[in-house]
Amino acid sequence: MNLIVKESYDELSRYVAGEIAALLRGNPQAVLCLPTGNTPVGTYQELVRLHKEGRVSFAQCTVFNLDEYYPIDPSDPNSYRSFMRKNLFDHVDIRPGSANIPNGEAKDADEECRLYEQKIRNSGGIDLALLGIGRNGHIGFNEPDRELLLETHVVTLTESTLQANCEPFGSIEAMPKQALTMGLGTIMSAKRIIVIASGASKKFAVEKMLSSRITTDVPATLLQLHPDVTLVIDKAVGVSSEGTRWTR
Ligand code: GLP
Repeated sequence: MNLIVKESYDELSRYVAGEIAALLRGNPQAVLCLPTGNTPVGTYQELVRLHKEGRVSFAQCTVFNLDEYYPIDPSDPNSYRSFMRKNLFDHVDIRPGSANIPNGEAKDADEECRLYEQKIRNSGGIDLALLGIGRNGHIGFNEPDRELLLETHVVTLTESTLQANCEPFGSIEAMPKQALTMGLGTIMSAKRIIVIASGASKKFAVEKMLSSRITTDVPATLLQLHPDVTLVIDKAVGVSSEGTRWTR
């Protein structure tokens, strides 16, 4: 695993967007896994800027988003489908059929997860997974637990995640209590992984990721087993690369 510490959030965003744009230039048909949350917003803004300047195209690529609330109407402003449209999909040339997100209003959630997993496999697999990280170390919506599931599945959100994510819904009562998420196995099957973290609230999760220990209590620690992971953080996280064996 490589650790890159950037001076600021803007620098982090520019760097990560540059990596994605370079991948798409080299392999226009790449399959990407993308996250939601506040952290990737700057990266998406930068990708939109690069696209408007003609420096990156999404026309041939395929995206699989990590997760979606359940149940939720995809057109609900708080759905991850709406988030991705607002922040990226509506501003670049991705084909609508290539922008995949689990369907939050599927009648049979387990069947939706099975189909999503199959679609990822049929696409030839993920070339690059960009991941955010929850304060408790969750990845996608793989929450801390005694056991984790490998494939896309239904998950019940923890109290800590409900609290961290409830603001746009107005209250915890008003938000969906479940989600559909790629499993750690699906995520770990990506050829390359970039994890982004910004700000002091991510210090716990980042420190655990760099700890040389793995535990399902902090799902992000499992990423240490992947052969090509880069963790890109800003200084505000409060973790320095000195003294770790991950420096680059
Ligand atoms: C949500 C998403 C995660 C994301 C996390 C952190 O729970 N399911 O994929 O990494 O939020 O979000 P933020 O970047 O806003 O801290």
